[in-house]
Amino acid sequence: MDAGDVGDDLAKVLLTEEQLHRRLDEMASEIDADYAGKELLLVGVLKGAVMVMADLARRLHLPVEMDWMAVSSYGSGTRSSGVVRILKDLDADLTDRHVLIVEDIVDSGLTLTWLLANLRSRGPASVEVATLLRKPSATKAQVEIRYTGFPIPDEFVVGYGLDHAERYRNLPFVATLAPHVYSA
Ligand code: IMP
Repeated sequence: MDAGDVGDDLAKVLLTEEQLHRRLDEMASEIDADYAGKELLLVGVLKGAVMVMADLARRLHLPVEMDWMAVSSYGSGTRSSGVVRILKDLDADLTDRHVLIVEDIVDSGLTLTWLLANLRSRGPASVEVATLLRKPSATKAQVEIRYTGFPIPDEFVVGYGLDHAERYRNLPFVATLAPHVYSA
């Protein structure tokens, strides 16, 4: 899917496919260096992190395992509340494992704060976070993010795994939506 496939639904491309891939190269090098000699368990948060996980994992030289978690955050509209329900739990036992949570975007950080506490209670050797995108509100929240791809403005974005009403996830870049899509 590309911009031409979604008519006039997009307002502006924020990050091109090339920019995303270049930054993922850098993030993978950092992660490879930081976890040298260790085995890493990548935990992807469904569904948004699917693209980041696939592209980041393929760039790593480290031996990694991949596991997935699906959570739903109770909230109104596009804002999350921090009250989280597990829809799909991990298959892996985290005891003594080095865990890296892979996220698409951190907005308020409420979902992530809950997830960190939940995974840390399972006896891992370490738990860190890598997110492709980070909105300004995440800087205010006391959430520790080890690897950030891009800080972005406080705007709703779609593409590269991110959706609006389950659409646009398969765009290869990150874009803002045209206002008519919200009001439809
Ligand atoms: P938080 O708990 O406010 O950090 O919410 C994080 C979750 O909200 C992300 O994992 C996304 O699923 C969703 N989200 C936040 N901002 C956006 C956006 O701009 N586009 C699409 N989804 C978003």
